[in-house]
Amino acid sequence: MAFQNILLETKDRVAILTIHRPDKRNALNQQTRDEILQALDDLQTTEIRVLVITGSGDKAFIAGADIGEFEGRTALTQRDVMKQRRIFDAVEEFPRPVIAMINGFCLGGGMEFALACDIRIAAESARLGQPEINLGIIPGGGGTQRLTRLVGEGKAMELILTGDLIDSAEAKAIGLVNDVVPAAQLQERVMALAARIAEKSPVALRMAKEAVKSASRMNLREGLDRETDLFCLTFSSEDKAEGVRAFFEKRKAEYKGR
Ligand code: COA
Repeated sequence: MAFQNILLETKDRVAILTIHRPDKRNALNQQTRDEILQALDDLQTTEIRVLVITGSGDKAFIAGADIGEFEGRTALTQRDVMKQRRIFDAVEEFPRPVIAMINGFCLGGGMEFALACDIRIAAESARLGQPEINLGIIPGGGGTQRLTRLVGEGKAMELILTGDLIDSAEAKAIGLVNDVVPAAQLQERVMALAARIAEKSPVALRMAKEAVKSASRMNLREGLDRETDLFCLTFSSEDKAEGVRAFFEKRKAEYKGR
């Protein structure tokens, strides 16, 4: 599939998926969502170890769902759209670490897409929010759930009820983004982080992601049991043998993802 609304490049086992509709502030329309899903499927069969998601240009990460598509939609037609496979779930289930490189406005569905990623790094110039309330609707891509789990009910409620945007410093203070960096250094800093993660065992990364995700999906007892299962599973990998051997041989481990 030739993509029109996204760009895909790979550098040193790190893939960068760029939403490319800069004149629409990278708003997510149906075609863009289809292309993202296709790209996520394609990337699963490659050797990439980390995925970075960002937006084209210097204004927006993603300014939300394409509001133009809401016009004329009824509850029933919107429900049909939402029954389709969703990018938020696909990125959360993607079996590699995913970093959101937030280079500008990160709003509505864009915020929800970032929330589904594993780590969020924002430029100082970024602005984040769930402004759906200003359109007479509410977040529908997981915002009420993932945002609440990440920053707590009080702050999530404030952001969702007011629709106010916050700057990246505040986003960091409430735990919404992991780090804030000057816009000019954003790509370099994110790629350095991705490169460090890409050196780890892909098997362990996959198990770690699944185990951490279990914390918000299960109760504590189930989550601890899931962690035990995934921990034991890593003992079946060649990567575990290599990691332990490399420790005693005082050298850097060379992980193969097996
Ligand atoms: N859906 C569709 N089009 C969008 C969009 C969205 N979510 N966000 C921006 N655009 C379009 C604008 O309509 C405009 O199109 P035009 O040039 O054909 O008029 C273009 O992108 C540029 O937007 P503009 O508002 O002129 O840019 P700005 O830099 O002044 O402001 C935003 C950027 C993101 C603050 C502003 O566009 C905005 O508030 N967008 C909507 C955000 C939102 O409510 N998202 C939640 C959707 S559920």
